[in-house]
Amino acid sequence: MSLIQPHGGVLVNREADGAERESLLRAAEALPTVTINARAEADLELIATGALSPLEGFLREADYLSVRDNLRLANGLVWSIPVTLSATAEERAKLTVGNDVALRTRDGRLVAVLHLAEIYTYDKQREAEAVYGTAEEKHPGVQVLYTQGEYLLGGKVTVLDHPSGQEFKQYRHTPAQTRALFAEKGWQRIVAFQTRNPVHRAHEYIQKCALETVDGLLLHPIVGETKSDDIPANVRLRAYEAILENYYPLDRTVLAVLPAAMRYAGPREAIFHATIRKNYGCSHFIVGRDHAGVGNYYGTYDAQKIFLNFTPEEIGITPMFFDNTFYCRRCDGMASLKTCPHDASQHVSLSGTKVREMLANGEIPPPEFTRQEVAEVLIAALSQPLKKAAA
Ligand code: ADX
Repeated sequence: MSLIQPHGGVLVNREADGAERESLLRAAEALPTVTINARAEADLELIATGALSPLEGFLREADYLSVRDNLRLANGLVWSIPVTLSATAEERAKLTVGNDVALRTRDGRLVAVLHLAEIYTYDKQREAEAVYGTAEEKHPGVQVLYTQGEYLLGGKVTVLDHPSGQEFKQYRHTPAQTRALFAEKGWQRIVAFQTRNPVHRAHEYIQKCALETVDGLLLHPIVGETKSDDIPANVRLRAYEAILENYYPLDRTVLAVLPAAMRYAGPREAIFHATIRKNYGCSHFIVGRDHAGVGNYYGTYDAQKIFLNFTPEEIGITPMFFDNTFYCRRCDGMASLKTCPHDASQHVSLSGTKVREMLANGEIPPPEFTRQEVAEVLIAALSQPLKKAAA
């Protein structure tokens, strides 16, 4: 009995400790600095622990172009999102290929050393069209891309400190830790659930449908940067805490956080999310409707269709596809068009905007849409000034 292999075969670890860390910390004081944005902070955290295995750093040009154009690293391994580090012209002027670079957060904290192997220019618009399917600046993922520096820095990294801080410490399990946990529980078939939104009945339904056929469920909400109108991670975590005890089999469920930033790249991000969860030791991955989507940029099931471009062996982790699910009054339960014969007048489906409006007015959405315990957490958070909710 063994767990699924990491993507590319080896679980990467790019964290320094002990004497190596001390000596890099000292040396870094004299190095030129590049300031990293929230997305790069999150990527660094993931690289450090092997969540992005086989990546050991930020993409060099051959890999970048191959990922952008073919959804593969230059060696052919499936990889759908360019994981890159940008620098401004001013920063670039101080850098020499072959030398180390200190990577600092926007508040000046030294978090990693980049072993700079390559500096290259890139076409932002082309990346936007290829990865996000649009060059529009109002797309939140494209917006981040357009505000980055004009150069990309490729090379391995050695991470010295947690780039994205230590929030949610009790839920911050590394891939090595989740793998050890699954092995200890004797699980082989584990389904992962990616999410950036507060848990609702449709989420719970597809999680539990999936769990019916496997050994364990990894609830894996994203806690890196999300767009400003998404519900903050601490509130989403509280919502999960509020329902886990009452509605989930605790001996078959693990709640952990994924310190990744959302890119809202829809289909490409679905592949990315799946490969990351493979590294965490999961054998299955849930892809529902409009996975990692935003606005109307992607078709409802594009994030499922993209998996058909690859063989199951190339991806390794098995996607579990779910149609749009809702509560049906006639069925008296959750269903989808695959399982429910009744017409839309029987279905309870609320848009995210409508739910937000109701919560902001202190109204509890219907129990067919959200559990009362979750609604209470959301109302309490949304009725406070935003600063408090984000604390
Ligand atoms: S996402 O950006 O992380 O995809 P969200 O947290 O809303 O957003 O979704 C988490 C997962 O649940 C995704 O796989 C998504 O496709 C799926 N999902 C969300 N709502 C539904 C629904 N009503 N029916 C089916 N799948 C859904």
